[in-house]
Amino acid sequence: MAWHPVAEAEALSDDEVVGVKIAGKDIAVCRAGGEYFALGNVCTHQFALLSDGVIEDGCIECPIHQGRFDLKTGQPKGPPVSKAVDVYKVRVDGGRVMVELDEGSP
Ligand code: FES
Repeated sequence: MAWHPVAEAEALSDDEVVGVKIAGKDIAVCRAGGEYFALGNVCTHQFALLSDGVIEDGCIECPIHQGRFDLKTGQPKGPPVSKAVDVYKVRVDGGRVMVELDEGSP
């Protein structure tokens, strides 16, 4: 496992999400309620990037069919999504948002 810098902490406002690519993986990094979160960026329903969606009530909402995923657990919050997205550990270090990722995992 390794920590990867993905964004300047001050550059992310509350309820803002950005898409980043680390070791070939699409990851959505967002801030909500002053906390930072990192999840798989590809919706598990059909293809859409969650970083094009919105943050609301502790969830990220897919821009295509409005499927919602819990920011902390990645679990779906109801139809049409039924499969979770991955979640990653996040910390802020030296003003940068860092995401922990196993580069060897599929
Ligand atoms: S593609 Fe995300 S809910 Fe359908």
